[in-house]
Amino acid sequence: MCGIVGYTGARPALSIVLDGLHRLEYRGYDSAGVAMVSDGELLVEKRAGKLANLEKALDELPSGCGMAEGTTGIGHTRWATHGSPTDRNAHPHLSRDNGIAVIHNGIIENFAKLRVELEAAGIEFTSDTDTECVAHLLAEETAALDGGGRPEQRLAEAMRRVCRRLDGAFTLLAVDARAPGAVVGARRNSPLVVGRGTGENYLASDVAAFIEHTRDAIELGQDQVVLITPDSVEITDFDGRPAAGKDFHIDWDASAAEKGGYDCFMLKEIAEQPRALADTLRGRLGASGEIQLDEVRLSDQDLRDVDKVFIVACGTAYHSGLVAKYAIEHWTRLPCEVELASEFRYRDPVLDRSTLVVAISQSGETMDTLMALRHAKEQKARVLAICNTNGSSIPRESDAVLYTHAGPEIAVASTKAFLTQLVACYLVGLHLAQVRGIKYADEVSAVVEQLQAMPSKVDRVLETMEPVRELARALADSRSILFIGRHVGYPVALEGALKLKELAYMHAEGFAAGELKHGPIALVDQGTPVVCVVPSPAGRGVLHDKVVSNIQEVRARGARTIVIAEEGDEAVVPYANDLIYVPRTPTLLAPLVTAVPLQVFACEIAAARGHDVDQPRNLAKSVTVE
Ligand code: AGP
Repeated sequence: MCGIVGYTGARPALSIVLDGLHRLEYRGYDSAGVAMVSDGELLVEKRAGKLANLEKALDELPSGCGMAEGTTGIGHTRWATHGSPTDRNAHPHLSRDNGIAVIHNGIIENFAKLRVELEAAGIEFTSDTDTECVAHLLAEETAALDGGGRPEQRLAEAMRRVCRRLDGAFTLLAVDARAPGAVVGARRNSPLVVGRGTGENYLASDVAAFIEHTRDAIELGQDQVVLITPDSVEITDFDGRPAAGKDFHIDWDASAAEKGGYDCFMLKEIAEQPRALADTLRGRLGASGEIQLDEVRLSDQDLRDVDKVFIVACGTAYHSGLVAKYAIEHWTRLPCEVELASEFRYRDPVLDRSTLVVAISQSGETMDTLMALRHAKEQKARVLAICNTNGSSIPRESDAVLYTHAGPEIAVASTKAFLTQLVACYLVGLHLAQVRGIKYADEVSAVVEQLQAMPSKVDRVLETMEPVRELARALADSRSILFIGRHVGYPVALEGALKLKELAYMHAEGFAAGELKHGPIALVDQGTPVVCVVPSPAGRGVLHDKVVSNIQEVRARGARTIVIAEEGDEAVVPYANDLIYVPRTPTLLAPLVTAVPLQVFACEIAAARGHDVDQPRNLAKSVTVE
């Protein structure tokens, strides 16, 4: 979820681009850079860290060098995916002759193959990023077009040719020292908008970057290339045929623009979940069906030697680990323990070099989880990190890493990070099962295909949330709400309760449904709301029937039953005061759809109570103290 800004017009571009990047800072980033075209030269500065580092470097440039005078330029804030956050990996990336600069948001799935081809042609790479390939490919294509047409048209045609060679998700901007007054952009599976000015035009990953200059925008469509000059906007498809984007007038204020028009970041991030799932899955299946992890400093033999898995995490990440336990044990037949990171090292866990410790963390800086990881390494266990923040402490200190590609999660209450952690855990389980010979490549591919169907199922859930919001408003004054579930529905019940606690400051508690009769059912009184997460009847029928019995138990004691069940499940209808259907999903993957209504439910109750949904009281986004 990098920040992208481009400008061309009559005014100096640098300050406009930097202001645009500042407006995109909310997205989170770990490096930043700019490229300006001035007097036939390309001037580039980029730095790891915050924009202040970049601005300091710019201030130290000799005056009159052209950086502050150029009227065409691009800028980028990077949220690292491939390659750690360093100066050399920061964008823009340059062609070998420093004539073309490129910035990128997304993931180029076939970059490894492209890099091999380019290196074989004598290109020396200066970074670890997938983006640098594009800079070299553009130089190759513009050279092949040399002499044909105006330089800006040549750059646009080169971009079309390069885009046809790329797989994955990308928003790209490029400038060419030989094409002053032109910025070329392209998009596939990643947003790109044009801002139309008078004698000037803008490109950005979202309208927040240029909203103070113009509210007339064009949203580019899939597989489109756009050429902007101060007085023109030309859009084509990747084959060069004229195309049209979607014109719109921005009626949000700048603050709302950062939230994409949503009232809060949490709602925006809930809505981003289908894309976050798709991005986390993208490029994960190798040519012969093997699962591709990110940084693996463990051999297949190391993984074959594993005789126990231990998952450590906190809060929502811990709940994703509880779900993972069911999948990992079912697929690998390895024992899998899940422990709160803050408890882990004080319980003297039984660990050795045959134990695989999986540390799950969105921020990668949670001190409880980091200390648990260090303890595991002292005990010679091997550590695999599942993390959403490239280059943070937890993945840096691990032996292997699987990055979730949820993009920056701004709201303290974790939503898209949770769903992508689930996907990452499934991928780790499948990888272990395959490496250990428990599952064949076709069996792994079959589950990955089920996972690849999940973004559209989550989309369907999001389209049906209005009754959930109405129910939330009706229950906003409840004193307490209970949550019950079995199997993978039990961690979902815990997660639903946590969301309600941290957002609505309301007492809430999750239980294993079978545990009710051992005490908690005494809590049920007339009208007590009880959220019941029901497994698919198509999975393990016995589980389904037992949860239906548990619903009857609480209903018999006066509970108001709020049932989350699979579309078509008629058995629950007689016992549900409120019924929320979710799409039919394989048993182990069900949390990907059943957790979403609980996120919306908690968010709406918090809003109804007038709370700051994004920054709940007493909480921090990353707890970097023990
Ligand atoms: C969840 O909504 C909370 N924000 C919190 O429980 C969080 O999941 C926990 O602090 C772990 O954070 P991490 O994933 O960054 O390690």
